[in-house]
Amino acid sequence: MRAIGFRANGGFEVLEELDLPEPLPAAGQVAVRVAFAGVNFAEIQHRRGEFGAPDGPGGVDVPGLEVAGAVSALGAGVHGLEVGEPVAAYLTGFGGYAEVVTADTRFVRSLRTGAGEADPAEAAGLPCVFPTAFGVLKDAGRLREGEDVLIHSAAGGVGFAAAQLARELGAGRVYGTVGSVEKIPYAAELGYDEVFLRDGFAERLAEVTGGRGVDLVLDPVGGPIREQSMTVLAPFGRVVAYGDLGRHDQWTASVWDLWKGNRTIAGFNIGDLARRSPERIGGYLSDSLQLLVAGRIRSGVTQILPLAEAAKAHHLLETGTGRGKILLSLT
Ligand SMILES: NC(=O)c1ccc[n+]([C@@H]2O[C@H](COP(=O)([O-])OP(=O)(O)OC[C@H]3O[C@@H](n4cnc5c(N)ncnc54)[C@H](OP(=O)(O)O)[C@@H]3O)[C@@H](O)[C@H]2O)c1
Repeated sequence: MRAIGFRANGGFEVLEELDLPEPLPAAGQVAVRVAFAGVNFAEIQHRRGEFGAPDGPGGVDVPGLEVAGAVSALGAGVHGLEVGEPVAAYLTGFGGYAEVVTADTRFVRSLRTGAGEADPAEAAGLPCVFPTAFGVLKDAGRLREGEDVLIHSAAGGVGFAAAQLARELGAGRVYGTVGSVEKIPYAAELGYDEVFLRDGFAERLAEVTGGRGVDLVLDPVGGPIREQSMTVLAPFGRVVAYGDLGRHDQWTASVWDLWKGNRTIAGFNIGDLARRSPERIGGYLSDSLQLLVAGRIRSGVTQILPLAEAAKAHHLLETGTGRGKILLSLT
């Protein structure tokens, strides 16, 4: 089968086209013939070596955390899914940039929902991104109805998902930040009440909220942005840390400042949740597919590139020049 992978960590030039044997599903897994694979920032971290050196078969790692396609084989003990069934899958072991991938059925859902069938070219952008956005808002962020939210990196995959789900969960005002002026008009179209440049966001937010700030900040950037985000919290406000886009040194919050200022800092990680509470991710994927079919959310796909152009997709995300969700096509 065709795949894109890497034998050594490094820049996007380490990605190469490969001809690999098709993987066989183990017990509790299905094999999925991939139609579309979502591209995530985590795959750049994987390629760079932030998750370790390649340790897949033959010393090759195939990135890819989410796909949509059709079930092509069933592992032992699998019930409720059939060969040929259209599905979306979150991949705990990576492997999505390939014609066939195996997936643990706890993270696989049929595209045939009670309300209709989801389009695979939309659904492929859901399985990692939307459970993350649900987890960041509901579980770590404890969002309550009417609360105001600030979303950093508002025009990206998780950012746009979180903006839509915040509305679904009854948020009050939803603000966003982006890294460059050119992205503001694009992000403003995505349904935010207001979008600011990340540089200087704290002052701008104080102006528009009359100094009150917000109840919840979603922060995948880290460093000074995380520190400044703590200063824009209303009483009992939360900052949820869920990424390290800026590759800053770790910043340590002072417990003294937290209790003296009625502030909370929380964390979210989908990999840890997949190990310790897998049913929650499967449930969020089902909920996301239902919302997609009902026309209440969009996966925000802006570009579909052929598999061979995976390096271009990485370049767009890595340089912050991408918008929305990028998919790779394997059809
Ligand atoms: N904890 C978890 O479980 C989990 C799960 C999924 C994703 N994530 C994290 O969520 C974040 C977003 O992921 P995504 O896949 O949806 O990516 P994305 O937001 O679609 O793309 C990355 C965006 O990050 C922004 N960015 C900010 N600082 C940057 C920097 N120093 N270098 C490059 N880009 C920078 C850029 O947009 P702007 O400049 O406009 O902001 C860029 O477009 C990542 O940090 C990822 O690791 C975490």
